[in-house]
Amino acid sequence: MTTIVVAMGEKNEIGFENQLLWHLPKDLKHFKEITSGHPVIMGRKTYESIGKPLPNRTNIVVSRKTDWFEEGILIVGSIKEAVKFAKKIDEEVFIIGGGKIYEQTMDVVDKLEVTLVKADLEADTYFPKIDLKIWKKVNEVCHENDEKNQYDFCFQTFEKVDGK
Ligand SMILES: NC(=O)c1ccc[n+]([C@@H]2O[C@H](COP(=O)([O-])OP(=O)(O)OC[C@H]3O[C@@H](n4cnc5c(N)ncnc54)[C@H](OP(=O)(O)O)[C@@H]3O)[C@@H](O)[C@H]2O)c1
Repeated sequence: MTTIVVAMGEKNEIGFENQLLWHLPKDLKHFKEITSGHPVIMGRKTYESIGKPLPNRTNIVVSRKTDWFEEGILIVGSIKEAVKFAKKIDEEVFIIGGGKIYEQTMDVVDKLEVTLVKADLEADTYFPKIDLKIWKKVNEVCHENDEKNQYDFCFQTFEKVDGK
């Protein structure tokens, strides 16, 4: 199973100036719970935005640059290669962004784990539109904002409509 994990606002916004748009510790915990122990695939910009390898996960970073190395990550030249390596490690693979990587993987993944953040924020990076002819929402759990989590949000799981 290959799964996209994303947190997006009401207009599908996901980032601005290589940063996330919110601070939601409950979402970070959810992300950690879903992805820990499995390989994660990300674009070079997302890796730079995180700044270090995510612990307890094989970090596979996609880049066309051939002249950089970093301890603790596997750098590959294409998404295809990333998925190939990831699948050798584990059946469960997670694609964790950013915008450029989501655009190119939306058609090949089996599942979307979306955090829908109830906010409308300025952004320069967006998640592709989720086509409801292709994707069906199979689960939703919502949380209200609190002193540590600034917005209301819902965890939503989408799976492919049969036969798509
Ligand atoms: N809200 C969320 O869930 C979430 C999750 C992740 C990221 N984000 C946000 O998204 C933004 C970053 O997204 P982004 O779209 O700017 O960048 P990105 O997708 O993280 O990375 C883009 C880079 O990946 C490499 N790449 C992309 N396609 C490739 C391909 N087919 N083959 C080889 N390399 C490829 C290139 O690296 P090189 O330039 O090195 O060749 C490209 O510059 C940030 O604001 C981040 O905070 C949000």
